[in-house]
Amino acid sequence: MLSDSVVEGPLPFERVWAEIAPIGRDSGTGGYLRYGFSEPVRELERWFRHVATADGAHTVEEDGNGNLFAWYGPPPERGDAVLVGSHFDSVPHGGGYDGPLGIVSALLAVRALREQGREFRRPVGVVAFAEEEGSRFGVPCLGSRLLTGALDPDRAAALTDRNGISLAEAAGGRPAGARPELLARIGAFVELHVEQGRALADLGAPVGVASGIWPHGRWRLDFTGEANHAGTTRMADRRDPMLTYAFTVLAANKEARLRGAHATIGRVEVEPNATNAIPARVRGWLDARAADAGTLEALVEGVRGKATDRATRDGTTLTVTRESLSPAVEFDGGLVGAFREVLAEGVPVLPTAAGHDAGILAEHVPTAMLFVRNPTGVSHSPAETASDDDCAEGVRRLADLLTRLAAG
Ligand code: GLV
Ligand code: MN
Ligand code: MN
Repeated sequence: MLSDSVVEGPLPFERVWAEIAPIGRDSGTGGYLRYGFSEPVRELERWFRHVATADGAHTVEEDGNGNLFAWYGPPPERGDAVLVGSHFDSVPHGGGYDGPLGIVSALLAVRALREQGREFRRPVGVVAFAEEEGSRFGVPCLGSRLLTGALDPDRAAALTDRNGISLAEAAGGRPAGARPELLARIGAFVELHVEQGRALADLGAPVGVASGIWPHGRWRLDFTGEANHAGTTRMADRRDPMLTYAFTVLAANKEARLRGAHATIGRVEVEPNATNAIPARVRGWLDARAADAGTLEALVEGVRGKATDRATRDGTTLTVTRESLSPAVEFDGGLVGAFREVLAEGVPVLPTAAGHDAGILAEHVPTAMLFVRNPTGVSHSPAETASDDDCAEGVRRLADLLTRLAAG
């Protein structure tokens, strides 16, 4: 049983959610195409500016890295701000809740407290981080990595999307990179997120608190062989990188299962991609995650070893390039404890294998996450969902935590 909330009465979650629901939705799949720095995300950012300003934000600023901050209460320069928010971007044909739910909930929690006439004793910020999924430029949590200095702005500027457009072109210039003075303003960060599994549904709980994030990363696998005629090349004479690639997909699955870890190859490119030609090149991306860093390293090395042996037998070559690595995260004990107190004893506390901007911020400021039940347990797919009632409950619980941390 959850404790009483400081927010009484109904919340306009359904109505506000409906304002953004059509933005970037593909009518064919019902999924979202909200890539970082794309028009749908720009439209969501204009909506964010409008809503935050109408709700009394005294400042809405962009940090030079594509991250938007709306500030309420005392000037943020004071240095003990409580920041809440998430990201607007999606994976290709992803669900609408992963990311935007955290921003909408943050805006509504701040609105509910202001409508009650509560004064903020600490600055409160709502943030929309840029390109969290890395679906456009390949590096996840791009905006929060730039802000914290975890990603070099020159490297970021040169990243290209699938159409060859650089980040610098898409963002209108080289990103600013580390903003230590902005980071120093933040005393705590809280990200509300739709749950990306079925744990809360199985427990019958509308919300839960995150304990930490599994270490995870992305590796690009370049398989090179020899392009040749599909009809005339004898089977014994082929150097077919598709074979090495196919073996590697199965090996990754097996190596992960053996270790209780997760490995996925969900993106692939083939050249020349012709039905009647043996490919010259296959490029795949390995997403690997494990409960600890040692297991993750052993998993990736296991896949690399198996794939390299196979490449030798196929007469192909393999190069493995790490594109990103996110270390294990344990969220702040004090903030997790505060959440447990305002939500009442017995609220579920869960680890997750999904990456979040909260994981990047956690290296610098006390950070915590609140999960909202997802009845399907599915995410990164149009089947991702959450009920309006549970989302409203998430807003209330975020408001409860904000009251504890920042409101009189
Ligand atoms: C982000 O959602 C990730 O874990 O890939
Ligand atoms: Mn995601
Ligand atoms: Mn997310």
